[in-house]
Amino acid sequence: MHGIRVLKAFGRGQYALKNFASRAEDLRGTEIEKAKAIAGIWLWLLLVPDVTFALCLLAGVWLAAGGQLSVGQLVAFFATATVLRWPVESIGFLLSMTFDTRTAADRFFEVMDSPNTIVDPEHPKTVANARGRLVFDEVHFRYQDSPAQYADLLDGVNLELEPGETMALVGLTGSGKSTLTALTTRLYDVTGGAIRLDGVDIRDLRLKELRAHLSMAFEDATLFSASVRDNVLLGRPDATEEDLAEAIDIAQSGFVYELPDGLDTRVGEEGLSLSGGQRQRLALARAVAAKPEVLVLDDPLSALDVDTEALVEAALRRVLASTTGLIVAHRPSTVMLADRVALLEGGRITAVGRHHDLLLSSDHYRFVISSLEDEERRERNDASGPAELQLEERADA
Ligand SMILES: Nc1ncnc2c1ncn2[C@@H]1O[C@H](COP(=O)(O)OP(=O)(O)OP(=O)(O)O)[C@@H](O)[C@H]1O
Ligand SMILES: [Mg+2]
Repeated sequence: MHGIRVLKAFGRGQYALKNFASRAEDLRGTEIEKAKAIAGIWLWLLLVPDVTFALCLLAGVWLAAGGQLSVGQLVAFFATATVLRWPVESIGFLLSMTFDTRTAADRFFEVMDSPNTIVDPEHPKTVANARGRLVFDEVHFRYQDSPAQYADLLDGVNLELEPGETMALVGLTGSGKSTLTALTTRLYDVTGGAIRLDGVDIRDLRLKELRAHLSMAFEDATLFSASVRDNVLLGRPDATEEDLAEAIDIAQSGFVYELPDGLDTRVGEEGLSLSGGQRQRLALARAVAAKPEVLVLDDPLSALDVDTEALVEAALRRVLASTTGLIVAHRPSTVMLADRVALLEGGRITAVGRHHDLLLSSDHYRFVISSLEDEERRERNDASGPAELQLEERADA
């Protein structure tokens, strides 16, 4: 069901259906065989005791008639046998269930017994007056399942964000930008080095405290099946109506007031479906509404059209003035929003500085920015209609 649009768009519906049908056929065969086997077992389970009872009854009546057995003894025999019958039968039943249960229990304990290393520290510290100074100190990271011969994905990242500063993070696709942002809120722990918030290693903070100081918007904006209000106030359920309105305003999400039930409209899987750009703006509103000292945004504006992006940027500039921001940027215009830019290359930050200075000093930076510009130009061309039209316009110009 998840891939149905892709299959339709590529005309592979019939192929997928055939594939599915043949597997369903296999499953049906297996299920029928299973049903037959169970039926066979139950036939014997029921037949053997019942036939035995019948034989015992015949023999008992015969013996009672001959005077070798009293009627009382016969009745006592059947009473005892009836009481014992079900417990004995159920032993077989229980044995077969034990096998099913064991498989399920093994899987359950495999999950439950896997240690969770991202937990509150034993001796938690706190950041008394959080100002939002975020420092990456020789940060190393590799995913657990990455092959041993690979170098660390993050191979000694050093970066300092001053309170109130906005830092854009750029790098080629797959360079580890999303990974680096995920480390700041401890979705993963660094495998070497440390990340510090106002001088305190984030592993020494309670998770709750860390996540109150630092909030995040992700690349893929996930909304829950809940009202717009609950979705936006996820990180700060006690926020006032003004805070909510402000967050919605900053993220240019005014469209929510037009929804059938306004802020109480259910969105997400069981509610109203929103467009990619609308979802992204709500995810941004959610991050902003939490009023953190540090705001980490993983490519928060990618699904927005250029005009809306400019509006969001203007509003973000207002909040980011008092908030430390780390923004993964996929568009040159997002880079402009930042005070400084950090370039991630080969697992390290190879250059930090103002956009214009980096353009002059770093070849790799020029290369990354020009590939972002190409991408943006393609997007704009796609958005603004047939290519001939543009050629004409350009000729006019
Ligand atoms: N959960 C994961 N487990 C294992 N490897 C992962 C995981 N997530 C990402 N990777 C790998 O880490 C590398 C960096 O991924 P990451 O998502 O951080 O890149 P990125 O810089 O954000 O790219 P993009 O610009 O496309 O968003 C990729 O090679 C990817 O295959
Ligand atoms: Mg990414």
